Amino acid sequence: MGVNDLSPRLQTRLGKLEMQNPVTVASGTFGLEYDDFFDLNRLGAYVTKTITLHPKIGNPAPRLYETEAGLLNSIGLQNPGVDEFLKSQLPELREKLSIPIIVSFSGGTIEEFITTLKLLEQAQGIDAYEVNISCPNVEKEGIAFGVDALVVYELVRRLRALTAKELIIKLTPNVTDIAGVAVAAEDGGADSLALINTVQGMAIDPLTGKSRIKMGMCGYSGPAIKPIALANVFKVAKRVKLPILAMGGICTWQDAMEFFYAGAGAIAVGTYTFVNPKACMDVINGLDKHFIDNDMTLKEIIGKVYL
Ligand SMILES: Cc1cc2nc3c(=O)[nH]c(=O)nc-3n(C[C@H](O)[C@H](O)[C@H](O)COP(=O)(O)O)c2cc1C
Repeated sequence: MGVNDLSPRLQTRLGKLEMQNPVTVASGTFGLEYDDFFDLNRLGAYVTKTITLHPKIGNPAPRLYETEAGLLNSIGLQNPGVDEFLKSQLPELREKLSIPIIVSFSGGTIEEFITTLKLLEQAQGIDAYEVNISCPNVEKEGIAFGVDALVVYELVRRLRALTAKELIIKLTPNVTDIAGVAVAAEDGGADSLALINTVQGMAIDPLTGKSRIKMGMCGYSGPAIKPIALANVFKVAKRVKLPILAMGGICTWQDAMEFFYAGAGAIAVGTYTFVNPKACMDVINGLDKHFIDNDMTLKEIIGKVYL
């Protein structure tokens, strides 16, 4: 089977980005090594791990812990920095992939986001940006960028001025009013939204009292957070017109369907890839069969949940 043998029923669009199908990978959970398991060019798009202006060694170990229904992580945005990404990783991605490449980036200050984007803009072969705003803002006592609608508006407005490419803002669920932050991103000029990043979590060894994760609090992902992600997508879809790339606990094509009905135009599989390395491909094939069997298209069901 060739790359484009899926039915056009699965085609979708994330703002300016045309996707052959609505399934991509969640930032930080996937790499080119997965081509041992399936042809990566069958994905709707590829999302990189978040990069930052300067290299980061990440947080101290232990930084991963599996719970009953999910995964705790505290990787701490370990990455080689934007220069190294542009020199060695991007050329390899572009050589191997014919699908859209979405580069995820982040920063500790607004200026760092801006400098990183300016460097990325000089490169060839990037189709879109996913802006990770779940990271601490060092100018605001380390409170994540994504919890403050005014900061989000200002950040997005300044990034928007620097690029004509698809600008996807990735939201954190660790807020009281995610829809308010989504509106701020829309007002700032975002093209689309990605949600959700990990939910704040923690685990402690009940016998010794020692935190399972060196940093204490960390990010929770996997099946346990799916209902949270779904509710957030539903809330945001009601308030903004922007297309939504949804993630959070998606394991199967049926999970993906729930997110389409809630208002997502595309989805990403993250943690579940660690359980089933072919998960994305299984979701794509499952959706394809379901849409053909039921004579449906993706476009006609987005946001069509009924109560
Ligand atoms: C090990 C790990 C590393 C992650 N790294 C990043 C990252 O670098 N940037 C980012 O925006 N999200 C990162 N995430 C969050 C995922 O992209 C995703 O938003 C979240 O895990 C929810 O989806 P899931 O439940 O399908 O994993 C990471 C998640 C995990 C589990």
